[in-house]
Amino acid sequence: MPRVFSGVKPSGDFHLGNYIGAFRQWVAHQEDHDALYCVVDLHALTEEIDPEYLRRKTFEAALNLLAVGLDPAVCTIFVQSHVPEHPRLTWLLECSASMGELRRMTQFKAKGSGQEAVRVGLFTYPVLMAADILLYDTDLVPVGEDQRQHLELARELAQRFNHRYGATFSVPQAATPGVGARVMDLQHPERKMSKSVDSPLGTVDVLDDPADIARKVKKAVTDTDAQMRYDPGAKPGLANLLELMAVVTGKGPDEVASGYTRYGDLKADLADGLVELLRPVRERHRTLSAEPESVHEVLRTGAARAHEIASATYARAARAMGLLA
Ligand code: AMP
Ligand code: TRP
Repeated sequence: MPRVFSGVKPSGDFHLGNYIGAFRQWVAHQEDHDALYCVVDLHALTEEIDPEYLRRKTFEAALNLLAVGLDPAVCTIFVQSHVPEHPRLTWLLECSASMGELRRMTQFKAKGSGQEAVRVGLFTYPVLMAADILLYDTDLVPVGEDQRQHLELARELAQRFNHRYGATFSVPQAATPGVGARVMDLQHPERKMSKSVDSPLGTVDVLDDPADIARKVKKAVTDTDAQMRYDPGAKPGLANLLELMAVVTGKGPDEVASGYTRYGDLKADLADGLVELLRPVRERHRTLSAEPESVHEVLRTGAARAHEIASATYARAARAMGLLA
């Protein structure tokens, strides 16, 4: 079976952007792939984060992955720091990555700008991400649009390594969803919905209760000309709602637009649709919260399986580079 790998940082709550842009794909892929999904706690250390908060969020992220519908009977769920090959392979890859290519990463430029002391880890973050992926001979990496550049780098590093040291890594492909790859903030539709931006009304949490979802959708920013058409450039707020409705209904955004004349009707249907979309997530979350030990057990089993694969790949890379066995 082809292999899928993806990761999520445990640094905040899961929102609708994560769910639509990433987790829905993760769930779909677990059926017909050998799927490994990772809570990337080491990545969370690249920014200021309280230790107790990180510990709690790492556990919650694992719980949420189960809540969104990942089934530990068919896929592997684990925590990055439980598998020591991630930082080990990162070092090997850092020794073939260049400063120039890392400096070009737009996420680094965005997050690093304005900080007086930029952490080295923030700079080398994409190499750690490449290690995550390459350790598992990954074929496919489902990610949102914002991670494409990092994935390109992982491909480049794999190819360069294979060229220099002999065939060692599989070269992964990105899988980004068509519609819903960039869910925008409901209050600021020019920027993506994000856990690192404080926008309580603009962000729908996957665990929001139905009343909150309805309130946020109702208050979503649109525009004043009240013309119902899908035009992301000129009408970003409306386009975002149409895309979300497209995800909910399985239709295209243009087709959705042609079914409405009033924004209010679209918002009402969208609120109902999102409440239903997220209902099973809320319900599974409630059940799992009552049995934390089962989540720990999933993580123990997951780490053991991940380690088995990762240690073999690491050994191959180390040998290829000339490290004494
Ligand atoms: P993050 O929240 O940045 O750790 O991202 C976890 C996953 O969700 C990654 O695959 C992202 O590409 C995806 N993602 C994050 N925000 C959005 C968004 N607003 N729209 C679509 N996908 C997103
Ligand atoms: N950088 C990704 C993000 O911010 C998270 C991530 C880390 C990841 N390692 C990964 C995603 C490997 C896919 C594959 O969303």
